[in-house]
Amino acid sequence: MVGFFDSGVGGTCVLEAFRRLCPEEPTVYVADTENCPYGNKPPEEIVRLSKRIAADLIDRGCEVVVVACNTATAGAIDTLRATWPDVPFVGMEPAIKPAALGSKTGVVGVLATRGTFNGRLYRQTSSRVPGSVKIIEAVADEFVTLVEHGETAGSAVETAVRARLEPLIAAGADRIVLGCTHFPHLKPVMEKIVAGRAEIVDPSDAVARRVRDVLQVTRRAKHED
Ligand code: DGL
Repeated sequence: MVGFFDSGVGGTCVLEAFRRLCPEEPTVYVADTENCPYGNKPPEEIVRLSKRIAADLIDRGCEVVVVACNTATAGAIDTLRATWPDVPFVGMEPAIKPAALGSKTGVVGVLATRGTFNGRLYRQTSSRVPGSVKIIEAVADEFVTLVEHGETAGSAVETAVRARLEPLIAAGADRIVLGCTHFPHLKPVMEKIVAGRAEIVDPSDAVARRVRDVLQVTRRAKHED
């Protein structure tokens, strides 16, 4: 069984991608809606909340735990791995590298929470992108609120999404990386607004493939024991 968690409904985009890939595999999903949003919480708080959920998923028999939240990955995955060294954890990583490689303008926009931008993982990944590529970061916490409220279409949503995307496009971005698992839920609106001027980079399918691979390796290793 594979366990997934997020601060709310965001991570269901990763869960759905995994289900498309491995429809027979049992899954369990925890949405910590009581404590959502995570994006502006201090790292100690993210660690405390993530440890509690991970412990619950491991207790329920999950063989792999997917931290389907960029903010929780940034703030807590190191601690989770150190706390449960025998449990494989798969986290979210903003897909800046593939976006940078695919960009023709050399300008990449990244949308994420403050917690993700402040994390070691993000700093490491963005520092590996060639200096010739310009990265523009934008915190879009209001998208989390919209998605949690089930507001993913309509004119108010379009106005909010346009306000974040137009400055990135005006600055030349032709790739916009979704660095928060709530954001793919707004992808149809984003694509309407962007109207072919930039590509929206959503890592959900790549993470789902990684989860499938990690699960296979884990089972093989247990079988050989
Ligand atoms: N879905 C989360 C992420 O990927 C967190 C959103 C939030 O709770 O602020 O970062």
